[in-house]
Amino acid sequence: MAVVWRRVFTVLGLVGLCFFGIPIKVDKNPEIQKEELFKEFLQRFNKSYCINNKTEYAKHYNNFKESLKVIDELNQGRSTNHSALYGITRYSDLSKEEFLHLYLQPRLHDHLHLKKQKQIHNSQKYYFGLSKRALVDDLPMHVDWREKNVITEVRNQKTCGACWAFSTAATVEAMYAIRTGILHKFSIQELIDCAENGNSGCEGGDTCSLLEWLVDKKINIVLDNEYPLVWRTQTCKLKGSEHVIKIASNFSCEYLVGSEDEILKLLAHHGPVAVAVNALNWQNYLGGVIQFHCDGGPEHINHAVQIVGYNRSAPVPHYIVRNSWGAEFGHNGYLYIAIGSNLCGVATEVSTLDVL
Ligand SMILES: *[C@@H]1O[C@H](CO)[C@@H](O)[C@H](O)[C@H]1NC(C)=O
Ligand SMILES: *[C@@H]1O[C@H](CO)[C@@H](O)[C@H](O)[C@H]1NC(C)=O
Ligand SMILES: *[C@@H]1O[C@H](CO)[C@@H](O)[C@H](O)[C@H]1NC(C)=O
Ligand SMILES: *[C@@H]1O[C@H](CO)[C@@H](O)[C@H](O)[C@H]1NC(C)=O
Ligand SMILES: *[C@@H]1O[C@H](CO)[C@@H](O)[C@H](O)[C@H]1NC(C)=O
Repeated sequence: MAVVWRRVFTVLGLVGLCFFGIPIKVDKNPEIQKEELFKEFLQRFNKSYCINNKTEYAKHYNNFKESLKVIDELNQGRSTNHSALYGITRYSDLSKEEFLHLYLQPRLHDHLHLKKQKQIHNSQKYYFGLSKRALVDDLPMHVDWREKNVITEVRNQKTCGACWAFSTAATVEAMYAIRTGILHKFSIQELIDCAENGNSGCEGGDTCSLLEWLVDKKINIVLDNEYPLVWRTQTCKLKGSEHVIKIASNFSCEYLVGSEDEILKLLAHHGPVAVAVNALNWQNYLGGVIQFHCDGGPEHINHAVQIVGYNRSAPVPHYIVRNSWGAEFGHNGYLYIAIGSNLCGVATEVSTLDVL
């Protein structure tokens, strides 16, 4: 096991992700090594809970050791240097259950808007008279909306479980910028506080029911600085303002499992999309393309993110996915997910929108 960690840290060093220089001494006993890693971890992430509390220390140290085991297992599947690499992150001292409850939505699958309709929304709807090959051949090899200056900076949702609002707001901002050429931050807090239709602020919600509510109620979305983020659910303060936008009624929410070419087409010809995902194994994600260990079944969906592009010329063709866990996560806040097999459930619920 020690050998595998050494490999992980070696790779880390090589790709420049390792800014904490842990000297791995192979002559040490594994328990001491683990404890040293844990102490480095506590320092690096300013975890203060352990200073005076032995119970807390023991609990988190055990979780941390469990994470080391999981990291080892996840890294077993790496086939190339481009494959996802897992290692120690700021979340590595949490148990899977704690991570799920603090950063994800354990019961999101119950609320998935499309779950009931997914038999209807089937792949036949697309590819009408178009072979898969022809469709893909017509698309650019590479799309990245970040290059067009229509993507705002990566946000950090902290422990507010409003991924559904973060991913939707990011898409609103992008579509507004594509339409007007102006990049504005819109209020996520307004969505957190006010969205009805089954949504419950930092306790959870769903992108599609949010869009439905925005359109049905003709909601004005205000700028971020007029209704700033506080990371908790407050009383709704809907207000008019000079700079407001509305969502066009023709938004879409599609089940595109088996039709990921359609996602590529949306990304190439329309703009970024918001998607529901399973992010459980992102707890220890450092970078690279996720190709394995990310179950896409609807029962595993627990998070929502935005896809801002794709790269089909890469050795492992992948989506470029923007998360809402700050710029520290993955590649400056982004991660890569392989195209084509509903990895992490990316095709389960895909939302597009236009702004008025
Ligand atoms: C840890 O705390 C120090 C001093 O308070 C601060 O400079 C540093 O940015 C913090 N690091 C993290 C990862 O929060
Ligand atoms: C230490 O942490 C445990 C578990 O979170 C808590 O119940 C206990 O009150 C803490 N003890 C002190 C001295 O803070
Ligand atoms: C991975 O990267 C390392 C260091 O850059 C290189 O030595 C090795 O050959 C690469 N392996 C593959 C499979 O590309
Ligand atoms: C949706 O409606 C808006 C406003 O009428 C329009 O600009 C846009 O092109 C439409 N989008 C699609 C995908 O049809
Ligand atoms: C696509 O990925 C490949 C391999 O990672 C990389 O070399 C290339 O620069 C990427 N394309 C673009 C346009 O970023």
